[in-house]
Amino acid sequence: MNIAVDTPSVPETIYLKDYMPPAFAVNSIDLDIRVFDTYSEVTAKLDMRRQHAGDLVLLGRDLELKSIKINGQVLSPEQYQLDSEQLTIANAPDQAVVETLVIIHPESNTQLEGLYKAGDDLFVTQNEPEGFRKITFFPDRPDVLSVFTTRVEAEKKFPVLLANGNLIEKGELDGGRHYTVWQDPTKKPSYLFACVIGDLQVLKDSYTTMEGRDVALEIYAEAKDIPKCHIAMQALKDSMKWDEVHYGRPYDLDNYMIVATSAFNMGAMENKGLNIFNTSCVLADPEYTTDAAIMRVQSVIAHEYFHNWTGNRITCRDWFQLCLKEGLTVFRDQSFSEDLQSAAVQRIDDVSVLKSHQFPEDAGPLSHPARPDHFVEINNFYTATVYEKGAEISRMMATLLGKEKFRLGTDEYFKRHDGQAVTVEDWVAALSAGSGVDLSAFLTWYNQPGTPTLEVNEEYDATTHVYTLRSKQSIKPHAKYPNLKAVPIPVAIALFDAETGEQFELESESLIENHVKDGMILFDQDEATIHFNNVTNRPVVSLLRNFSAPVNLEFAYNDAELAFLLQHETSGFNQWQAAQTLLENILLKNHDSSVYLDAITNAKLLPELIKTDPNLASRLLDLPSESYLASRIDSDYRPEIVEIKREALLNDLAKQFGEFWKTIYTTLDPKSQTEFSQAMGIRALRNIALTMMARQGSTEVFDLAYQQYQTTDNMTERLGALRVLVWFDAPQASDALQDFYNRFKDEDLAIDQWFMIQAAHPRADQARIEQLVAHPDYDLGTPNRIRAITGGLGSRPVNLWGEVGTAHFINLAKIMDQKNPIVGSRMIQALSRWYTLSEPKRSELKEKLQTLQGQAKSKNVVETIDSMLSV
Ligand code: ARG
Ligand code: ZN
Repeated sequence: MNIAVDTPSVPETIYLKDYMPPAFAVNSIDLDIRVFDTYSEVTAKLDMRRQHAGDLVLLGRDLELKSIKINGQVLSPEQYQLDSEQLTIANAPDQAVVETLVIIHPESNTQLEGLYKAGDDLFVTQNEPEGFRKITFFPDRPDVLSVFTTRVEAEKKFPVLLANGNLIEKGELDGGRHYTVWQDPTKKPSYLFACVIGDLQVLKDSYTTMEGRDVALEIYAEAKDIPKCHIAMQALKDSMKWDEVHYGRPYDLDNYMIVATSAFNMGAMENKGLNIFNTSCVLADPEYTTDAAIMRVQSVIAHEYFHNWTGNRITCRDWFQLCLKEGLTVFRDQSFSEDLQSAAVQRIDDVSVLKSHQFPEDAGPLSHPARPDHFVEINNFYTATVYEKGAEISRMMATLLGKEKFRLGTDEYFKRHDGQAVTVEDWVAALSAGSGVDLSAFLTWYNQPGTPTLEVNEEYDATTHVYTLRSKQSIKPHAKYPNLKAVPIPVAIALFDAETGEQFELESESLIENHVKDGMILFDQDEATIHFNNVTNRPVVSLLRNFSAPVNLEFAYNDAELAFLLQHETSGFNQWQAAQTLLENILLKNHDSSVYLDAITNAKLLPELIKTDPNLASRLLDLPSESYLASRIDSDYRPEIVEIKREALLNDLAKQFGEFWKTIYTTLDPKSQTEFSQAMGIRALRNIALTMMARQGSTEVFDLAYQQYQTTDNMTERLGALRVLVWFDAPQASDALQDFYNRFKDEDLAIDQWFMIQAAHPRADQARIEQLVAHPDYDLGTPNRIRAITGGLGSRPVNLWGEVGTAHFINLAKIMDQKNPIVGSRMIQALSRWYTLSEPKRSELKEKLQTLQGQAKSKNVVETIDSMLSV
């Protein structure tokens, strides 16, 4: 028996520059997976052919090798080399049929990678990026594409046996067992392989593609959850249509299956024709699911579907190219969501996520390029930078090209690379060739870390009517990535007459398009000077409209100008952006809050907006999150000071509007709306109003909240009310919490919310957190439940960085380092800005992290903590 011992010595760093194509291709693989209670058997037959000189290498981890044959001949142990990561055969023949039999243990696999037990009646797989090597020996790398035929066998108590592609055979066996055989006609890398063994029900539908292909659509979930699958099903059909209309991409198989599981490390996975989803990203029903969660379900369904072209048919040459598929696909799902609801609000929400997650990441010790050039553990690079900044890079190129040229570019990409495993260079080259615009300068965006700062100054000559902008870009030096270069920064721009608010027509040689009102300038040098002619009156400039580039803009606006833009900007996003800048001035630079408060109250804007776009109205009332504010503070950070300021501003806002909050609360009715997105906006506004009334100190508000809690059948409203009761310590709080638990005790996702609200209490002290952790429903085997508490705690930096918070995160990282290293690494990432804290906190944290560093074993946690302590 050969069982590999895990001996991670010094974790090995892998470099992009060392990429080598594989010595052998795998034309096809026949896989047979037989699941038993205490083990599973996997046979694999690989039809391999030599491409280059070199050893035949099969990657494998935690596999018990029972036998191996080449071209029918059994190999003895001296004919191959086996260690904890791979099996190597030197001098293999050029044509090799390799057959292996291994034993694996999905029933005790707590890492949720490879094949694992996801509940009493369910086994699923997660193979991206390197899970397949935990199922069988294989060249488990994305540039090896094969045809998969899969036989799945288990007891009949698991009626559902799924794998990718078409069902070609099924049958019964002795001993109460049965099997199915699936064949996937499309060649794919092993990370897209999936199989599912379980007791699930199914919701069925169908879709006919623009080519006339009838596709069977199936969503598998637990029986009680099937009614919660309709929104996802509709989103799937909408996505299929959207990709046809916007990118000309139809679906290519006869079936598309989605399986929901509550035991999942991430959101969802795009396995070919057989997506596997975290329940949180597929189940949606207004009675159980908040509006925000419903929006997320729709966007993740779209995301995984869009991967079929951007990720599956065209995949990545190696994992350094991860953002090739993820960045582009996030950009595509964001665009889809912009079409589902108010585009401005979608952009606001996406930019908020970028600024509160990606910007801080890129400003700290875990900063890396969207395409890194080295890593130890690729799982550590499923980051906001790869996903969100990656999406912004695609978006910048799309914005610069405009709709038509961008489409020509993507058409060329699909034409050139369908069926291939490619690189970021290939993508940019295809876009350039198809559009006729050279975009190669954008490669710099993929290759270097950090958020660029764009400093802009203005000058207006009232006699010549020339308005001048001078720009200077800079980027913080990075120890691991020297030689940082200027990047092309597209800046969407408008000039407004400071007196009338009228938008000027723009006249400048530097514009991408001259004589337009909504202009675009490409700042692609370290410094630039740009003149606008015929600006007949002093203007107020609006820069970086729609957040046209992921940069920190520095422009010396005074508060009055920002208030002016809030009033006169022509799009909701730009109004929001002005409001946010104003709010940052108050919260970070101690400006007086009166300009903002007056602008918001005096603006006829708000009452008007409430009628036309209630969602946007609710976002204009949003304050920058404490974590975003924290990301702007690089030293001597004191979370309590940020909180005090932010709370004071919220209280001012509560007071300033006086009775208006109550009017909003009592006169707006989500039921009067037929459009989901309008009703969602109204629910958001009413929940804000309820909180504001609580801030006003009204006690009557608790009765209103309790009434809302009891009478609604909508989760957004029920949670909105529960939050007010719990966070303001209302007398009805414990009653409501008990009621919520009883009502939803069989609904895991609702119970996650129940944990989260309590963990997000403004004073979540030790007793409270201990009580949650000790609750019988708290479960370290379910990442969603873990994240319910960490999400709640993490949403309030004062608690996150307090004694209780840091202990909770560090302890979890220690436990998960062994049990589930992907999650363990995430836990510790939450503390990556430890070095910004004021003393003595900073030193205390450092010591605790160093202790953890000494204990950590997994590559995941080791790499993360090493980077974190390298500042
Ligand atoms: N490709 C998936 C998605 O973004 C994410 C899978 C990540 N899995 C992981 N173990 N890191 O759609
Ligand atoms: Zn993805």
